Amino acid sequence: MKERTLSIIKPDGVSRNLIGAVVKRLEEAGLNIMAMKMIRMTKEQAKGFYKVHEGKPFYESVTDFMSSGPCVVMALEGEDVIKRYRKLMGATNYKEAEEGTIRRDFATDIEKNVVHGSDSEENARSEINYFFNALEIAK
Ligand code: CMP
Repeated sequence: MKERTLSIIKPDGVSRNLIGAVVKRLEEAGLNIMAMKMIRMTKEQAKGFYKVHEGKPFYESVTDFMSSGPCVVMALEGEDVIKRYRKLMGATNYKEAEEGTIRRDFATDIEKNVVHGSDSEENARSEINYFFNALEIAK
């Protein structure tokens, strides 16, 4: 089934000049980029984005990190793209990520794990809407 997902290249990925490396992997895997921009979230905007994690021990820290510098946000589209992109990213904890995944190859920490991807269709929809309006998404 054709679906969409939200991808974020996090501040560690942007500051370490990994935008091109991540985009190359998405393109090589045949995931279509339908929208893309660089943003800098405020702490409040990062807290809004990670609201599902409110109350967890890493909530303050991850929202500090995500507002510490620019991110690249993308809407990706393709058959089964949520699962395919999560496979490309690898596990949240890079030490558990499979070889050849983005996080295994580039992450330095469970928090500084280079990329984010939506985990369900419902979250993908709300995460894409958090960053993009209809005019910004190629049809
Ligand atoms: P992400 O997939 O963007 O979702 C939540 C983020 O919180 C996660 O990637 C990590 O960057 C960060 N994080 C930090 N510690 C943890 C943890 N123990 N478990 C899950 N996520 C964590």
